[in-house]
Amino acid sequence: MIRAVKIAPSILAADFSRLGDEVRAVDKAGADWIHVDVMDGHFVPNITFGPLAVSAARAATKKPIDVHLMIAPADPYLEAFAKAGADRIIVHAEAGPHLDRSLQTIRGLGKKAGVAINPATPEGAVAYVLDRLDTILTMTVNPGFGGQAFIPAMLDKIKRVKAMIGDRPIALEVDGGVATANATEIAAAGANVFVAGSSIFESNDYAKAIAALRAGATAGAR
Ligand code: DX5
Ligand code: ZN
Repeated sequence: MIRAVKIAPSILAADFSRLGDEVRAVDKAGADWIHVDVMDGHFVPNITFGPLAVSAARAATKKPIDVHLMIAPADPYLEAFAKAGADRIIVHAEAGPHLDRSLQTIRGLGKKAGVAINPATPEGAVAYVLDRLDTILTMTVNPGFGGQAFIPAMLDKIKRVKAMIGDRPIALEVDGGVATANATEIAAAGANVFVAGSSIFESNDYAKAIAALRAGATAGAR
């Protein structure tokens, strides 16, 4: 069900010396999706990993793998991430001039298509591609690093994105600074998919952290 609360641990905050074990651990701890943050050092001021990390995560879980491409250009790499095992591929609206074509390509590869918008990007940037979308990822930090503080001004944008989605089958995903303490108000604003890196992987009990995040989000869900 599109509107159900989903928790998507971001492996950016995982212990990379044990990536497979970490993916298996959050899977077992109740994660709904596994969020993979791909960064190229060009679109964002950090470099993480590419399709190989998606393949590694794919081998460790059957849960949907949600690939967040913080890369520009993204189009030349869509097929590689699809082949590596991504279930959902999110491109940034800011990453190139042909977003509609990128989303068509992702669906053409048989994957769910998503768009991410940075904090300063108005939601109107995706108004004309809604019918090509399965996810709108509203960034609640400036992309590039885990462990940043949630930007409160994004609550208003989440409300606007929710209004724009209406009753379309589009997931409203948030990413950056998400924790149990703010999950209720984020859900009340309209989000239903919660990406969390540090608030899960820095805890000493992943199941407890995921359950608390889910309870917080469910309390505000609409
Ligand atoms: C930031 C990434 C986020 C980040 C979230 O660019 O897109 O997914 O990993 O990490 P936390 O939850 O620690 O803010
Ligand atoms: Zn992300």
